[in-house]
Amino acid sequence: MNYFLDYLKRTDHRGLTKWLHYFDVYARELGHLQGRDIAFLEIGIYRGGSIPMWAGYFGKEARLTFVDIDPDCARHAEPGTNVEIGDQADPDFLAMLAEKHGPFDIIVDDGGHHVHQQITSFEHLWPHLNDRGRYIVEDTHTSYWPGFGGGYREEKSFIEYAKRLIDQMHSWYTDQDDIFPFHEMARQVEGIRFYDSVTVIEKHLKAEPPLLIGSTNGKVTGSRKSLQVRDRRSVFRGRDGT
Ligand SMILES: C[S@@+](CC[C@H](N)C(=O)[O-])C[C@H]1O[C@@H](n2cnc3c(N)ncnc32)[C@H](O)[C@@H]1O
Repeated sequence: MNYFLDYLKRTDHRGLTKWLHYFDVYARELGHLQGRDIAFLEIGIYRGGSIPMWAGYFGKEARLTFVDIDPDCARHAEPGTNVEIGDQADPDFLAMLAEKHGPFDIIVDDGGHHVHQQITSFEHLWPHLNDRGRYIVEDTHTSYWPGFGGGYREEKSFIEYAKRLIDQMHSWYTDQDDIFPFHEMARQVEGIRFYDSVTVIEKHLKAEPPLLIGSTNGKVTGSRKSLQVRDRRSVFRGRDGT
């Protein structure tokens, strides 16, 4: 049985609030880290139900940190876990958090869900995510809710922010410097996965630009010529030849 569903049946008075379909996302995105010595951070404690859930999922080797703005949440700390009280939209607090408990392998933002909070936390914590780490933002449907700073195609929403990350990830492949310059995130983002209400941004620090691999008669060669798009007019010529 799925660990998370099973856990739900065992929770105590602290309770837990997660959408059911997130459990499949966790299994897919985090399953390979079970039992490993990882550093995990979750923003948003509420009644504290997710603290034993994550502790049981990752095991004794994992170092777990939980954050909430509500000082009352400090009472949910469990032996072997850290609880910090502060505002996820406060860069100084986030810097302290990273200094004290980072760098992290997994960051889950299940905090206030306002788009401004989600973006501020991402921008200040992303540098403290380890290579091959995953940054998970939950309840991204708030990007469509005006009360949370969202709305359909609202530029300031987290979903629109994450869509711009897609462009940045591909900025190796352009000569449109005036409107689409190379972005440093191209060297850092392995992939961005959009699930219903959950966005996962995976980090991979790339020492080299992407390499095109070719094989002829068993001879394997690598090339980066196609990244030199400025010299390859054919890439930009329209279908009508202009
Ligand atoms: C959805 S609940 C967390 C649920 C918990 N992760 C669970 O799985 O049961 C959201 C929590 O985020 C906290 N929160 C709201 N705004 C915050 C902020 N600016 N910084 C940190 N935490 C915040 C709230 O106090 C609340 O406890």
